[in-house]
Amino acid sequence: MGKSSKDKRDIYYRRAKEQGWRARSAFKLLQLNEEFQLFKDIKRVVDLCAAPGSWSQVLSRELFENQNHSDAKIVAVDLQPMTPIEGVTTIQADITHPKTLQTILDIFGGEPADFVCSDGAPDVTGLHDLDEYIQAQLILSALQLTTCILKPGGSFVAKIFRGRDIDLLYSQLSYLFERVICAKPRSSRGTSLEAFIVCMGYKPRPGWNPKLELNKSTEEFFEDSNIGKSYNLEHFELPDPEERKIAKFIACGDLQDGDSDATYTLDNDSKIGALDPVQMPTAPPYKKALEMKRRGDLVRR
Ligand SMILES: C[S@@+](CC[C@H](N)C(=O)[O-])C[C@H]1O[C@@H](n2cnc3c(N)ncnc32)[C@H](O)[C@@H]1O
Repeated sequence: MGKSSKDKRDIYYRRAKEQGWRARSAFKLLQLNEEFQLFKDIKRVVDLCAAPGSWSQVLSRELFENQNHSDAKIVAVDLQPMTPIEGVTTIQADITHPKTLQTILDIFGGEPADFVCSDGAPDVTGLHDLDEYIQAQLILSALQLTTCILKPGGSFVAKIFRGRDIDLLYSQLSYLFERVICAKPRSSRGTSLEAFIVCMGYKPRPGWNPKLELNKSTEEFFEDSNIGKSYNLEHFELPDPEERKIAKFIACGDLQDGDSDATYTLDNDSKIGALDPVQMPTAPPYKKALEMKRRGDLVRR
């Protein structure tokens, strides 16, 4: 598909290039912030799974330019290398590895984070169940790291796919946060199961000292947190026994704004035409295939 055709088909893709964002995802974070004021009173931020870096760009502009926090610290982590962003420390690392947490803590001088966000998505295999499982594991890894670094009262936002067992995640999160909301920004395609869990008011579990260790399973990590144990179920008093705990689902972003599933005509007067991407991917997974094609090594046998 040509650049100009994609510009028409996806208004947020086009707009990201016009406004200098590296990816259309920038609008998702901006629209989540419009709804939940996530950027209020934050100075230490962790952007997990951050490449190519549009969320970090949003955070950098907000903290350094709009809020003038010259002492703010933003750490961006991704498996892929990232082109530098003003005021952001980028780390090429795996968020599931305990060393990554230690590196972030060192950058913060041992201070906790005010806000952790994760837009993580694994490379899809096309095997639906496997992809759903890996995505769920990535969210849990982001959550584990978050419990080790977030300050009490802090916020956590993560991309989810509303699959079969998502209710379980909502109820686990409600043990750890005052408010847990499932939000769908207007810039996230309506046809996709993608949404974001917005968790506000972190309440560390009393007496629990979460520790990331290599080869520790998710179950072992949360073992002493006393979440969802039979004791809790017996003593968990709901105001109304019929009431189920389901996260609120909120659509956010201006409803008059562009529809991410609609096709628009480009302004005929526009002299700009198709725009180049703000930042070309530094090390995309298809890089090797492109090199092979250029050398003529990709021939049909
Ligand atoms: C949708 S992109 C993130 C887009 C980003 N928020 C932005 O605005 O530019 C998902 C990213 O998750 C990263 N990722 C997946 N698994 C990861 C892991 N275990 N550790 C670090 N990054 C990971 C991928 O490398 C990919 O860059």
